[in-house]
Amino acid sequence: MKEFKDKIAVITGAASGIGLALAQKCLTEGMKVMVADYNTKALRKAKRKLEKIGNAFSIIETDVSKSVDVEKLAQKTLQTYGKIDLVINNAGIGIPGNTWEFTQKDWEWILNVNLWGVINGIRIFVPIMLEQNTDCHIINTASLEGLITGLLGGAAYVTSKFGIIGLTESLKLDLDKINSKIKVSVICPGYVRTNIFSNWLNRPSEYQDDRQITVRDINSEEIIAKVKFVSEESPGITPEQAADIIFEEIREEKFYIFTHKQPIVKDAIKERMDAILNDLD
Ligand SMILES: NC(=O)c1ccc[n+]([C@@H]2O[C@H](COP(=O)([O-])OP(=O)(O)OC[C@H]3O[C@@H](n4cnc5c(N)ncnc54)[C@H](O)[C@@H]3O)[C@@H](O)[C@H]2O)c1
Repeated sequence: MKEFKDKIAVITGAASGIGLALAQKCLTEGMKVMVADYNTKALRKAKRKLEKIGNAFSIIETDVSKSVDVEKLAQKTLQTYGKIDLVINNAGIGIPGNTWEFTQKDWEWILNVNLWGVINGIRIFVPIMLEQNTDCHIINTASLEGLITGLLGGAAYVTSKFGIIGLTESLKLDLDKINSKIKVSVICPGYVRTNIFSNWLNRPSEYQDDRQITVRDINSEEIIAKVKFVSEESPGITPEQAADIIFEEIREEKFYIFTHKQPIVKDAIKERMDAILNDLD
């Protein structure tokens, strides 16, 4: 997508962090935005921030893991703005822990939000965009942890993000096959200073179980050491900086969108690819 003015955007997980900064950027660019999130309190706060930029937005409570909610989001957007040009399936959560420690509820929560949220977004928005037959763009937020392992997220997060990469690559291939006008991208952010490391404390009641993760888990020496290493080698950026970079990459119609391009990022991706290729010999 090269021109943003007067285009209609839908962003999920838009009450905080990268999603909110993307919504702010959309308004600055003269777009109209549907701001979707499941956190009512955070939505109220986001509304106040967005109003400082303009009024061309609507707030809608949406749990992306529930297809009925995503369906409502699409219908409300069409009723309000008449079309959909840009969808950013951005909502996401993470839970720390060793691979074998995740409970069934942990897995269900992460995969339902991170992976099913994106699946629902594709299932519901792509047919609308195909029907419109206009120059649209659908974007899924994965992570660097969709391409490499051993950073901050636990196995459940990494599994969901690797899933989003495969899902988005497949979507692009399928749309290219039918010469669709819809552009596709996948965002692979590095470390962005948001609420992602504490939002797992807002676990909905349906996913509660006996495993008590506390703030201490996230402040464990291991996690702090990893954050320090990542911050030094590939520093954390603000959500606003991330949104600026992401918009430039959208304008250039990049498929893989990176917020961090330091040598350490390239080396880590190359190391994984080399390990795969080496075992092919
Ligand atoms: N912050 C980083 O360093 C980083 C790095 C790589 C990828 N990401 C990804 O970026 C995306 C945005 O995360 P962020 O860092 O801005 O975190 P954040 O916690 O600040 O924002 C995430 C938003 O998603 C919302 N959300 C959670 N569950 C939801 C649901 N079921 N339905 C709708 N909304 C829901 C939260 O309420 C929150 O407002 C996520 O997909 C995350 O995995 C973040």
